[in-house]
Amino acid sequence: MSRKSSQRLSSRDLLTVEDDARYFTELYQGQLDWTTSTRKRLYRQMDLFHAQQILEVGSGTGVILREIKSINPRARLIGLDQNLLALKYSQKIVANDTLIQGDGAVLPFSSQSFDIVLCHYFLMWVENPITTLREMMRVTRNGGWIACLAEPDYGGRMDYPDNEIWMELLLNSISGADPFIGRKLRTYFYQIGLKAHVGLQSIVLPPEAVNNLYEAELAKLKRFCSPENHLKLDRLTQLFRSHKPGELFSFMPVLFAIARKTA
Ligand SMILES: C[S@@+](CC[C@H](N)C(=O)[O-])C[C@H]1O[C@@H](n2cnc3c(N)ncnc32)[C@H](O)[C@@H]1O
Repeated sequence: MSRKSSQRLSSRDLLTVEDDARYFTELYQGQLDWTTSTRKRLYRQMDLFHAQQILEVGSGTGVILREIKSINPRARLIGLDQNLLALKYSQKIVANDTLIQGDGAVLPFSSQSFDIVLCHYFLMWVENPITTLREMMRVTRNGGWIACLAEPDYGGRMDYPDNEIWMELLLNSISGADPFIGRKLRTYFYQIGLKAHVGLQSIVLPPEAVNNLYEAELAKLKRFCSPENHLKLDRLTQLFRSHKPGELFSFMPVLFAIARKTA
């Protein structure tokens, strides 16, 4: 892989032991529940219920594969990821023959193989999102759909009370990814010749969920942040925990983009 992993931490580097796979699966599954209705609407728009061949690129530990399988158990569903541990973990969720180790920028499939090619929290991590999107388009059949179901944009994150150190630590925890991928989706689709429908996945969380979100983010940072930031993190943990539900506000814009491939 050409990524300079010594300088840039990638999601691949984060997932190195099975315990982390379990941790991420629970984290992602929890976050998924808040946006189910938007995804269901996108699935309806793509007619995912009747699709026969579906590919998820960057399928990770398989939370989206599991959801799709429950909606359309008859489809031939393939999950592709570069991380073998994530794939092994997702074997518990979907059958072996649907999982392939590979690079999203060089998909090992013939052109026009799939009715739907989608991804979820993936494009932000790839080295060349346009090349990757073009590959996703190549393997989609004419008339089929390409979908980025969720990509965040940290530049639009709103927290109140504001805390600069918090934002610094959050950005630090995803170094290697593009924190501003959300706002770029429409342009990237345009650049490969697709007219995308772009919208928001995220919702304004109710009070208890905001506190839970901070707890989840704190736990993630505690697990992965560098030792020199531990003291800052301990102070922030105390600060957040001193607030009752309803006293904190947090909103992270997470965008989607979907487009139909025309002949
Ligand atoms: C944040 S995880 C998202 C996983 C899953 N889609 C989900 O929503 O739970 C991003 C995934 O993309 C994979 N990934 C990153 N770059 C990749 C690449 N170039 N090719 C294939 N997979 C890649 C990582 O290994 C990781 O499993």
